[in-house]
Amino acid sequence: MAVCVISGSASGIGAATRRRCEAAGDRVVGIDLRDAEVEANLSHPEGREKAIAHALEQCQGQIDRLVLCAGVGQTAPLETIPSINYFGAVELLDGLLSSMTGRPGAAAVVLSSNSVRIVPFDDHPFVATLLEGDEAGARKLIEAEQNGFLAYAGGKLALAKAIRHRAMDWGRAGVRLNAIAPGPTDTPLLEQARAVPALAAGLERLPNPLGRHAAPEEIAGIIHFLLSPEAAYIHGSVLFADAGIDAALNPDQL
Ligand code: NAI
Repeated sequence: MAVCVISGSASGIGAATRRRCEAAGDRVVGIDLRDAEVEANLSHPEGREKAIAHALEQCQGQIDRLVLCAGVGQTAPLETIPSINYFGAVELLDGLLSSMTGRPGAAAVVLSSNSVRIVPFDDHPFVATLLEGDEAGARKLIEAEQNGFLAYAGGKLALAKAIRHRAMDWGRAGVRLNAIAPGPTDTPLLEQARAVPALAAGLERLPNPLGRHAAPEEIAGIIHFLLSPEAAYIHGSVLFADAGIDAALNPDQL
């Protein structure tokens, strides 16, 4: 029986991934604020340390699959967004890698977002500050900027880059690591954004070739594929699953 650790397992995409993995016979150890095997708050270093320690304890130090879904949207308090969405993912990746090393078929998937290419933040100091691991600096910068979209999309961009930066080390450790960049998916996170008129209008303006949002189960299915032996040659990739929104916005960018 494979052991699968999922952060953000109590809601939305994480909960759908949990159901999918359990249906396939995996043992799931969820990490979330509540309703999870490991209850921890990923918004601060102590919470992240607790999450890593308790997950390792529950899995006896042997993890086969890791899915990092825990996250908040633009409506969350600004300074918590980089802490949860970026450091809540990369610190779990780095803290749990040794427990996956050498496990047959070991694989991890991290939740980025298709918002990374809606506004090009590649050269923004916020992204560089995150990649340098400077949490206090990133929180300070985003408080000064007061820009929720930068906090969310810039953080998800840094997270996608962090995956790619780890491709060599993780590949050598025999653990595949990929990111998925979903478009709008019907979960509580999206509902909270849609309740804010300016954010709802921004979402409406996005060109959506398939003309619909995703169900969380559809994203969970793609995550499950990326974790499976069928995806054994996919590593260091950022897979867009967004109804073609990115293609419509950036048709010449690969
Ligand atoms: P959701 O709100 O349904 O679930 C997020 C989960 O993360 C919740 O269970 C929540 O309790 C947990 N969480 C939040 N803050 C936490 C903290 N400080 N410590 C521990 N757990 C915490 O959201 P959804 O939509 O399922 O999002 C999952 C991931 O997918 C997120 O990283 C999100 O940014 C990403 N995503 C979502 C999209 C969407 O349209 N729903 C689109 C693109 C990416």
